[in-house]
Amino acid sequence: MSETKTRKKVTLQDLYDKMRMGRPITMLTCYDYPTACLMEEASVDIILVGDSLGMTILGYDTTLPVTMDIMIPHAQAVRRGTPNAWLIGDMPYMTYQPSVETAIRNAGRFMAEAACDAIKLEGGLEVVDRVEAIVKAGIPVMGHLGLTPQSVSALGGFRVQGRSAATAKKIIDSAKALEDAGAFSILLEMVPDRVCEIITARASVPIIGLGSGPKAHGQVLIFHDMFGLYPRFKPKMAKVYGNAGQVILDGLKRYVAEVTSGEFPKPENWFGMKDTEFEELKKLLG
Ligand code: KIV
Repeated sequence: MSETKTRKKVTLQDLYDKMRMGRPITMLTCYDYPTACLMEEASVDIILVGDSLGMTILGYDTTLPVTMDIMIPHAQAVRRGTPNAWLIGDMPYMTYQPSVETAIRNAGRFMAEAACDAIKLEGGLEVVDRVEAIVKAGIPVMGHLGLTPQSVSALGGFRVQGRSAATAKKIIDSAKALEDAGAFSILLEMVPDRVCEIITARASVPIIGLGSGPKAHGQVLIFHDMFGLYPRFKPKMAKVYGNAGQVILDGLKRYVAEVTSGEFPKPENWFGMKDTEFEELKKLLG
């Protein structure tokens, strides 16, 4: 890893410029400082501190147990590593559903405590009043449609959404409603490519796809899926860019073997003391 290079801070205007010029927007999830430093160096446009950390980092079966108090320190760590990406805090389950006021207060925490640039929340027509209110409070909002993991139970599992004409129409209508409510962008997770294409063609805000085909204005992936770091399953939409999980596992096995055999540590791995000081110490100890 080389020293972090400075790039210009990504702004909302930059994201809109990319959309208008037909230049795809890059977005990834990130939950910690060292990974954020790497993403800064790789010039990722948008970084999402996703509530997916409930699964990828904390090992829960779903994202539902995640709270604001879990999210904030991760968002702060990511911001420390990436001062220039457009940073989005993902609103956890039940931090915006109960009321408009709850939604504004929790969105505000991401901005005030973690220096985020925006927040993301899940849902369509049913969250339009939350989106409007948060936007009115001066906070940019990204919508999230299609597979919305906080509704995994109601959706019948982690599965493609909008495969029938009727459900696709509902997602298309929701995208319009979110845009009208002031969302600056919409994430479309696991909807058929042709539905994503229709939404993208009609939208005047950037559409970011996850498993939704090539026609969106940008793409997002979950970091742990990209690098073989999530042990339970690999979603179809996730391209693996390197098997860091295997590299780490090989290293762990070598470590266990070397400590067991006495091969580790070697003198270059420990700290010594001058003979004179050691003799003095022996005298002090009697
Ligand atoms: O929580 C998350 O990481 C997400 C992804 C689906 C992008 O919302």
